[in-house]
Amino acid sequence: MVAGAQDNTDARFDRARVATLIQSTQPDDPLAILRPEVLRRTAHSFLRGFPGQVSYAVKANPAPDILHILVQSGITVFDVASVPEMLAVRAICPSARLHYHNPVRSLSEIAQAKALGVASWSVDRMSELDKLGDLPKGTEVAVRLSLRRGGAAYDFGSKFGAAPDVAADLLRVVAARGLTPSLTFHPGTQCTDPTSWADYIAASADVAKAAGVTLASLNVGGGFPSLPRGGAALRQRLFDTIDAATQAHFPNATPQLWCEPGRAMVAEATWLLLRVKARGDGVLTLNDGLYGALGEWRDMPVPSRLIALDAQGQPLAGSPKPFIIFGPTCDSLDRVPDPWRLPAAIAEGDYILITGAGAYSLALVTPFNGYGTCDLVNLDSLPDPSGQCRLAG
Ligand SMILES: Cc1ncc(COP(=O)(O)O)c(C=O)c1O
Repeated sequence: MVAGAQDNTDARFDRARVATLIQSTQPDDPLAILRPEVLRRTAHSFLRGFPGQVSYAVKANPAPDILHILVQSGITVFDVASVPEMLAVRAICPSARLHYHNPVRSLSEIAQAKALGVASWSVDRMSELDKLGDLPKGTEVAVRLSLRRGGAAYDFGSKFGAAPDVAADLLRVVAARGLTPSLTFHPGTQCTDPTSWADYIAASADVAKAAGVTLASLNVGGGFPSLPRGGAALRQRLFDTIDAATQAHFPNATPQLWCEPGRAMVAEATWLLLRVKARGDGVLTLNDGLYGALGEWRDMPVPSRLIALDAQGQPLAGSPKPFIIFGPTCDSLDRVPDPWRLPAAIAEGDYILITGAGAYSLALVTPFNGYGTCDLVNLDSLPDPSGQCRLAG
């Protein structure tokens, strides 16, 4: 079965399982719904399609079930931003390779990271390189490069990353200290523009040349878009562009390529099931909002991924109308910026299923106002709905 058809079959099967879950438990708190089959397939598509090594950016979704399935699927290298993320990974996979690619750290964090055996560190300024102190000879230090360019939903270059001349200086010092010199960049999240990667790879070659250093590896970041933005075909085009640009710009000594996707790895693998707490005139108050798993919605809404369900888990019929959406907290800022178009009959006790909500959702939940409950339920732990069976791809 081709990938798109398999996705649709899985989605139908999983929708039936969600309906059964609603009928049997009537969940009142927000629920994240893990689709293990989809996560496994995404991991395999990166492992097979990316022209290098694959790590996972834990920040996108650090749930133990997610990490466990990724390890089972063959991903044993993790981009970690903090000590708690390192511990979360080690709890699932004690031998995992850790890339500490948050370029700014405290001395205490550095000491803990060394004790946890971090294999690769990223830096974007000399003071942070010096702060790392003595590292065993040959430890990888990846200099984070930043170019000012568009192409992503939002750019990361304004916070982290060294301009090319500073990156060349850093690379020179890394090599002179007997460390393994590498470069890393992040084109910005939800980046749909292949030329972003091509430009970064070309600039990386220029930086390495200016530094007079042979790169051991080149980490092309996360930033890969979730599937609705261009689908599997765009992802493959990005992989092909990365491959071609690396061959073209590093003709003699090709660095080991790495990627560290977060969003693209987990977005489709988890759905979010929310409930309507109350209905007013054109207003719905949900059991979750901007302080919860909808934290990213303000910056990156995905209105096409909303499915209204009744209290039996069946799709609500009827023509849609716009609703103002409030979260459950007392803060009037806890409001989704743009109205959601939902069936006019939607009522208290109904549900809203948000598909493709696995990235930066659970990870952003806060306990504000005493909320913050969002359990993760693994669909494979639920009984199969009667008469359904998954078709293997
Ligand atoms: C260093 C680094 N790598 C990877 C990622 C993952 O990015 P994305 O979720 O866009 O794939 C991030 C996101 O913040 C990051 O900072």
